[in-house]
Amino acid sequence: MTQEEIYTEAIGQIQARRRNAERTQELRIVQIQREIPETAELDRQLRTACLDITHALGRPDNQARLAAIERHCKEADAMLRQLLTAHGYPEDYLDLHYSCSLCDDTGFVGGKPCQCLKQEIGRVGTEALNARSQLSLSRFSDFSLSYYADLPTDQYYTMQQNFAACQQYAAAFSAETADNLYLCGGTGLGKTHLSLAIANEVLKKGYNVIYDSAINLMHTLDQEQFRRTKESSDSLPALLECDLLILDDFGTEFDTAFSRSMLYTIINSRINARKPMIINTNLTHQEVKDRYGDRILSRLLSSSRILPFYGKDIRVHRKAETG
Ligand SMILES: Nc1ncnc2c1ncn2[C@@H]1O[C@H](COP(=O)(O)OP(=O)(O)OP(=O)(O)O)[C@@H](O)[C@H]1O
Ligand SMILES: [Mg+2]
Ligand SMILES: [Zn+2]
Repeated sequence: MTQEEIYTEAIGQIQARRRNAERTQELRIVQIQREIPETAELDRQLRTACLDITHALGRPDNQARLAAIERHCKEADAMLRQLLTAHGYPEDYLDLHYSCSLCDDTGFVGGKPCQCLKQEIGRVGTEALNARSQLSLSRFSDFSLSYYADLPTDQYYTMQQNFAACQQYAAAFSAETADNLYLCGGTGLGKTHLSLAIANEVLKKGYNVIYDSAINLMHTLDQEQFRRTKESSDSLPALLECDLLILDDFGTEFDTAFSRSMLYTIINSRINARKPMIINTNLTHQEVKDRYGDRILSRLLSSSRILPFYGKDIRVHRKAETG
């Protein structure tokens, strides 16, 4: 999805909200006029008053006339509200109820994009990226510590703490206050499982979460760059803006100048903007340093809670179990 397509889709959603609000109001008017026939007469009076105002505005010395119409409108409006409450409805039942009171579902305030539009652009962009990463969510309830039972006590204890830390992270998540998690260790130890369980919970809270593996993400960005032959790519804004970015298999992407600089940009910008990330890797600290440099490693480590994973590959464990 290009940035333009994302924008068009988001605007379309906002306009649909507006139409929906207007449609709801029309339906309510019809329903109430059937149920409380007096309201039809008040409605007619209010409409006539609108016409009267238009006429009066065209005349000189119209002050007294306008004041009279205004008084009349206020009275009719008050009576309408009284009738509604008398019949058990909220007094604003027939008002237009927009989803966003800042822009009345137009998407713009003073010519600038409203925050609801920005949020919608983020949501559409996030969905587009996640559709490509085949996000399939796992759960904390499917995570078992029994796989680590054979480990030395300190390592078992660390795995127990990792599990608790991920659950706490998900439960306490807020885009403004969450910090970064850095999950590192051998293959098949539950890093992806726990990060997707976090994604599951955080998505339920209504946040934008992007989950992708470094390989897949670099492939996407590389293709976008190729197609548009331009510096900036379409996915980059969503990657920088989303509430939580989960970068899986960090270090398994093809090591090119492009992937290094992209990953550097993403990680560095999000650290600067204090936007939370979860990074999973099989690489040792030394390997990360050799590949991406000292600076990014130290920034990552100092801004993250580090969760080291221990154990035997659970994929192998399971194969042995099922025979
Ligand atoms: N503690 C656990 N309880 C139950 N299932 C687990 C546990 N840990 C991992 N699994 C399952 O084992 C498989 C491998 O785990 P996962 O993909 O999370 O490993 P990983 O640490 O991300 O490995 P890699 O570094 O190779 O990406 C998955 O199917 C996952 O659901
Ligand atoms: Mg994994
Ligand atoms: Zn708005």
